[in-house]
Amino acid sequence: MKSNGHPILGILEWLRPGEEERVERLLTDLKTIGVKDVRTGISWADWHTEGGEKWYEWLLPRLAREVQVLPCFHYTPPGLGIAPSECSPPRDPKQYADFLDVFITRFGDFFEWVELWNKPRNPLEWNTTLDPHWLIFCEMVGGAAHWVRTRGKKTVLGASGPMDAQWVRLMCERGVMQYIDAVGIHGFPGTFEFWWDGWNAKIARVRRVLLQHRSKAEIWITETGYSTWRHDERGQIAAFIDAMHAPAERVYWHGAHDLDSTQFSDENKFYSDEREHHFGLRRHDHSEKLLFRLLAQGGVEAVENSAWLGRSNIGARQGKRPVVITGGCGFIGCNLAHALCSRDQPVILYDNFSRAGVEQNAEWLREEHGDLVQLEVADTRDARTLAASIEQAAAVFHFAAQVAVTSSLSAPVYDFDVNARGTVNLLEAVRELRNPPPIIFTSTNKVYGSLEDVDLQLNRERYEPVDEELRACGISEDQRLDFYSPYGCSKGAADQYILDYARTFGLPAVVFRMSCIYGLHQFGTEDQGWVAHFLINALEEQRITIYGDGKQVRDILFVDDLVEALLLARKHIRLLSGQVFNIGGGVENTISLRELLALIGEMNEARPRIRFANWRPGDQRYYVTNFSKFHTATGWSPRIGKFEGVRRLYDWLRRIRITRERMVATG
Ligand SMILES: NC(=O)c1ccc[n+]([C@@H]2O[C@H](COP(=O)([O-])OP(=O)(O)OC[C@H]3O[C@@H](n4cnc5c(N)ncnc54)[C@H](O)[C@@H]3O)[C@@H](O)[C@H]2O)c1
Repeated sequence: MKSNGHPILGILEWLRPGEEERVERLLTDLKTIGVKDVRTGISWADWHTEGGEKWYEWLLPRLAREVQVLPCFHYTPPGLGIAPSECSPPRDPKQYADFLDVFITRFGDFFEWVELWNKPRNPLEWNTTLDPHWLIFCEMVGGAAHWVRTRGKKTVLGASGPMDAQWVRLMCERGVMQYIDAVGIHGFPGTFEFWWDGWNAKIARVRRVLLQHRSKAEIWITETGYSTWRHDERGQIAAFIDAMHAPAERVYWHGAHDLDSTQFSDENKFYSDEREHHFGLRRHDHSEKLLFRLLAQGGVEAVENSAWLGRSNIGARQGKRPVVITGGCGFIGCNLAHALCSRDQPVILYDNFSRAGVEQNAEWLREEHGDLVQLEVADTRDARTLAASIEQAAAVFHFAAQVAVTSSLSAPVYDFDVNARGTVNLLEAVRELRNPPPIIFTSTNKVYGSLEDVDLQLNRERYEPVDEELRACGISEDQRLDFYSPYGCSKGAADQYILDYARTFGLPAVVFRMSCIYGLHQFGTEDQGWVAHFLINALEEQRITIYGDGKQVRDILFVDDLVEALLLARKHIRLLSGQVFNIGGGVENTISLRELLALIGEMNEARPRIRFANWRPGDQRYYVTNFSKFHTATGWSPRIGKFEGVRRLYDWLRRIRITRERMVATG
């Protein structure tokens, strides 16, 4: 039965012996996104390995406790097709029938339907007169389907690949369809399908054949999905919505989890195609893709309501050239976008939504500024799409980044690709243009390393430099570069590339090396955005982990002041191009972690609960910005002091928390 006019949504996952932990993760994920159907392959080869039976004895009841299982039994008749070796199906019809019989006898209580999946790969050869194997094949499917029905189960006829209505016609003509309750079809538009005229047309062709032969079989999409191998999560959303509008009874979406793309198996050619690795709703590092997050928020409806995310809006607006903000839906990006749009400046937010929660910022900007805001849900690693946005830019603010030192330690290659490669993609796109727009890039104080060479002394709740001048002014741009951690290296590389493209190719570009920025629309986590993270945890009465002794000192800069600095950098680009500037709250706005905790304690009327853990790699005990170079060039200095800024952020976080609670209470 369809739900809310949509096909029933299931997930397709191949589960192999020994993957108990993955099964548990899958079930948890399915619960989160509200999916109650799973299609999975039953491997004859696995069954016959040591421990194979035990695996299925565990798997079937475990799945059936939480979801409806569609077991899918694979068969390849002699002489036809090549099957992926992970399924290694039996080639003898008797073996196949026996296997089905044994399985239904042992586990029949755990499923209602059985899929007979015979994946002939070459539909052009479906000619029973030319190739007698087809006759054996039809007999085999018909015999198995008849037997499965006799055992009280309903049958799904597995799809051919590629799908062709002729295949269904052949089954009808050979009398197989009388034992079939549903016909499965496959399709991977945007990933594998080179010719695609839409689900409606595809399904209409099959339905016509069924009607001609008076078959009442349902039509199910037993396999579809979208590979994000080119980081195109927008395409995944669009493909999902498309499939959920297909005139089918069910859709099994492939799949829940990405595969490990570093492990290409030589013996298994099927998985040597990189596209195969990126079909998941979660990435291989378990992080959630946007589609997962939307499903978790409100199922298929939430995805549909976000259909605008799945469209490219580029070029939709006439008139003033837009400012492109990569990472434009993130914390700094959305604050800058708000300031620009408030001055009637259109913006393109180029963001892949990899940071959880930033879609709220996109919604907010759209509500505030309507079509002044264009959204391009895309990745800076996708050079072509990036270039198409950059082509129109009046200026480019490049913020898109992997932003956490911690994540860079667990996934350094990803960190490099996004931060270094993504930046070179952007520079190359700008270099192509006859009138290159100004680029403002946000680097980090991490390029100065852990500052071991700065002698420090302990002054009650905080570290401070022994050197008097340093204590009075902070760290200037003369500080020696010392990239520390993969994040330090990738941001440092990007920082140097920007400066060098300004020098070598004459691009108008400026680098800001920033310390800690905080402010509204920041969803700070333990890994990045510590002021917001402390406040959020305090409000939610969660314990805060302090890495080190908590006496480390930073200067903090309220985001509105940063936005002013960014706009000034664009305005004075001729003067500033090719230069780097340290930007932060400066000596007036320094705070140690312990001091922030005390401040929060006063505001929240309870001191946050804390625990201590070891220092993290590259943690600076002291970093305070000397911004006098930028001040001299533009007259800029921060206006919002630390007490006022922290109070503003605290009030905002409280407000959105109360609003959220009210929304939950009123349903
Ligand atoms: N917030 C700070 O304290 C701080 C300090 C120093 C430097 N920075 C730098 O400022 C920039 C913005 O930081 P933020 O605090 O706004 O971070 P953020 O995480 O809130 O924003 C980054 C945005 O980039 C997007 N993104 C990530 N990878 C992408 C990719 N490959 N393609 C397209 N979009 C991608 C994310 O979805 C997110 O919306 C980053 O470059 C960061 O390194 C920030």
